[in-house]
Amino acid sequence: MIKTLREYIQDAQNKAVAIGHFNISNLEALHGIYNGAKKLSAETGELIPVIIGVSEGEENFVGLDMVYDMVHSIRDEHDYPIFLNADHHSSFESVKNCIDVGFDMVIIDAVKLPHDENIKITKQCVDYANEVNKNTGRDILVEAELGFIGSGSYIKETIPEGAGILTKPEDAKDFVTQTGIDLFAPSVGSIHGLIKSGKPHIDADLVKQIAEITKIPLVLHGGSGLRDEDFTNAIKAGICIVHINSELRLAYRDAVEKSIEEHPNEITPAKILTPAVQAIENIVFQRLKLFNHV
Ligand code: G3H
Ligand code: ZN
Repeated sequence: MIKTLREYIQDAQNKAVAIGHFNISNLEALHGIYNGAKKLSAETGELIPVIIGVSEGEENFVGLDMVYDMVHSIRDEHDYPIFLNADHHSSFESVKNCIDVGFDMVIIDAVKLPHDENIKITKQCVDYANEVNKNTGRDILVEAELGFIGSGSYIKETIPEGAGILTKPEDAKDFVTQTGIDLFAPSVGSIHGLIKSGKPHIDADLVKQIAEITKIPLVLHGGSGLRDEDFTNAIKAGICIVHINSELRLAYRDAVEKSIEEHPNEITPAKILTPAVQAIENIVFQRLKLFNHV
């Protein structure tokens, strides 16, 4: 019997492990992620939950209804704990749209707006999700962020300016109290994207302080390229979900490039793209192993 995402997050907290959140914009990536998670489940004899993220900029490409149907068919027909998140959505309307389609969780990312506006829009999303939950018996979770995590899962030459501005525990507490969010994404040292000159360290002490003061599950964004010990320390300190995107994008791109180079006359998409699915599967498998201390 599949539990709710809230229950899997609670389990993760109890076991001091983290659920992997991986972004997709096409079917191959979904296959790769599901295969990687299933492989680890088979190895451990335990169903390893996984979250599929669709960002605002990619939802038209992948198709909201289509991704909902794909994820739900895996969950309902294959009894696998796979969940769908509207990743970094910037307006109430786009969050509402994903809730209405049937997403399990949403991230309202209004961090670029003035603080009061961020609180107002985040609260509006929370109120709407609560109303839908009450009327339908669903259990949609709302996440929001505070602080600088950078934007965009792409390759960056250097660490962007502002990366040193970390979330203050008291600010986190006020934000969580005022908005009523279920999950909180603080700025604790990681940055979205793969940074050529290296990634900053995660401040695990800060994670711990924020977890203690907010008393809600914490989410780590910008996971690509971090050192293993940064993940394990952050998870030990209270991170329950870890986001990975750029690593999958890069692996996909490299695999497609190699596949075409090695087989210049191949025109069958399934053959060209199989190595890309495998590349994603491998990364997801390795990352989930680490997040679950296997
Ligand atoms: O929401 C997406 C993530 O935070 C991904 O970050 O591209 O550094 O893995 P990343
Ligand atoms: Zn993110």
